[in-house]
Amino acid sequence: MAVSINPSILSSDFANFGSEVQGVSQACDFLHVDVMDYHFVPNLTFGLPIVERLKEVVATPIDAHLMIENPERWAPQYAEAGCESVTFHFEAAKDPGQVIAGIRTAGGLVGMGIKPGTKLETVEDLLPHLDMLLVMTVEPGFSGQSFMADMLGKVKRAREIIGKDDLKLAIQVDGGVGPKTIEQCADAGADVFVAGHAVFRTENPAQACTDLRNLALAAQQKSWWCGG
Ligand code: DX5
Ligand code: ZN
Repeated sequence: MAVSINPSILSSDFANFGSEVQGVSQACDFLHVDVMDYHFVPNLTFGLPIVERLKEVVATPIDAHLMIENPERWAPQYAEAGCESVTFHFEAAKDPGQVIAGIRTAGGLVGMGIKPGTKLETVEDLLPHLDMLLVMTVEPGFSGQSFMADMLGKVKRAREIIGKDDLKLAIQVDGGVGPKTIEQCADAGADVFVAGHAVFRTENPAQACTDLRNLALAAQQKSWWCGG
């Protein structure tokens, strides 16, 4: 199995945005762009213009994480703007099937996120339609929060379902993921790792990506679901 390391640009230095993203572009798999609308979450970040500019300055694929209301309307536009992967929140969608179809038609990989309070059983029927399930390991809204280890049960259960039903989706964890927590995530079943502070708030963000990848790979190889 492969590991994907997706640095969250929300923790980067906005005064040096271009060099920050270029600094990690070779060491990571996707750039994770946290879009927040002040309604679905109590914070406001960035939207389509940032994505459009990023596409011009880095070749790294973009993993857009939409923490916004009305994903039916907005999510396809992120795929049209060139985001290779677009993740909406189940809790924000009136019609998740419509959002999934909209992103797919626009050419994006489809991710769906669940907040800590949302049970996996609630979304189980949707898993076969997704490319990625995002299990939030903090309450969405802010970077730099503490990792919620009790979310790992959901990751493990999702990985069991993927194995049992022979599904193809990836499992992403996001929030408080860093050198102290990434191994437990990989062991539980995650294969896509978002890290904000653990990448951009270090001396050498590219090296931090490489170190996280090595920790995740080693843990995955020993895990119940991958190595045994
Ligand atoms: C939180 C965001 C995360 C956040 C991660 O709502 O979805 O992507 O930026 O930052 P860290 O890794 O610092 O928790
Ligand atoms: Zn995120």
